[in-house]
Amino acid sequence: MKAQQFVKTAALAAVTLGVIILTGALGNSGRVQAHDDDDEASLVQRGFEIAPVPLNLEGKNRELVGLGSYFVNAVGDCNGCHTGGGPPNFNYAAGGNPYFGQKTKVDPTVYLSGGQDFGPVGTPTGASGYAGPHIISRNLTPDKTGRPEGGHTLQEFKQIMRHGTDFDHLHPTCTAAQLKQIEAGTQPFPNCIPTSPDNPADGNVLQVMPWPTFANMTDHHLDAIYEYLSAIPCIEGPEDPKDPLHNNCH
Ligand code: HEC
Repeated sequence: MKAQQFVKTAALAAVTLGVIILTGALGNSGRVQAHDDDDEASLVQRGFEIAPVPLNLEGKNRELVGLGSYFVNAVGDCNGCHTGGGPPNFNYAAGGNPYFGQKTKVDPTVYLSGGQDFGPVGTPTGASGYAGPHIISRNLTPDKTGRPEGGHTLQEFKQIMRHGTDFDHLHPTCTAAQLKQIEAGTQPFPNCIPTSPDNPADGNVLQVMPWPTFANMTDHHLDAIYEYLSAIPCIEGPEDPKDPLHNNCH
């Protein structure tokens, strides 16, 4: 009896194991055979679930918007740097700051509206130690043209993400004459980045912004980010039209 029972148990165990192995194998082959589209559909769905603001899908490619949301809100942390919020909660709503042990809630009123100050990146020059204008994240929300991040076209956006091109030329590299002026301490200082042999910062490219990493994204994924940024609500920038953060919603 005992021996028989043992055989039965062993047989049952073998069958169970077989089922587990078979299930695993099927599961794997299922995954291997899955089309990219299937994977993308789940990213699109997740993207819609995590978007912290209402989206305007009118005239937009829905799949691209959802996928873009996934990259902006789950991968790229764009709002970590491009939020308009200040201390203590920055990009989070009051009471929704995960670093305070609270349940995460992104603040929609400052979502991607820009304005974080990363300080200067140039070489401190002259008695004043002037190191150039502060590097400030920019408003990525769409303006009245419907185009995101200051009205840039998709082609321009791709060039920004791939090469860090600053189409607004907010902080060119100082010329030799400008460097002399800063060394002499003659105010007002020019809006340029002072360089030195150890720090040849190129003012033509965006600083701080992780474009050297984003440059690795596929065309399709950059399309998606652009489409998503076109679908988020516009947030007005400061009043001065010459201000880099200016954004005209209406
Ligand atoms: C580590 C901080 C940081 C992160 C993360 C970040 N950015 Fe930026 N971004 C900046 C800063 C700072 C600038 C302005 C740089 C300058 O003035 O040199 C900028 C500039 C830009 C610009 C140029 C805007 C214009 O009007 O020319 C675009 C577009 C942009 N970011 C998009 C994004 C997107 C999309 C993401 C997420 C996928 C992202 N950024 C993530 C810091 C960041």
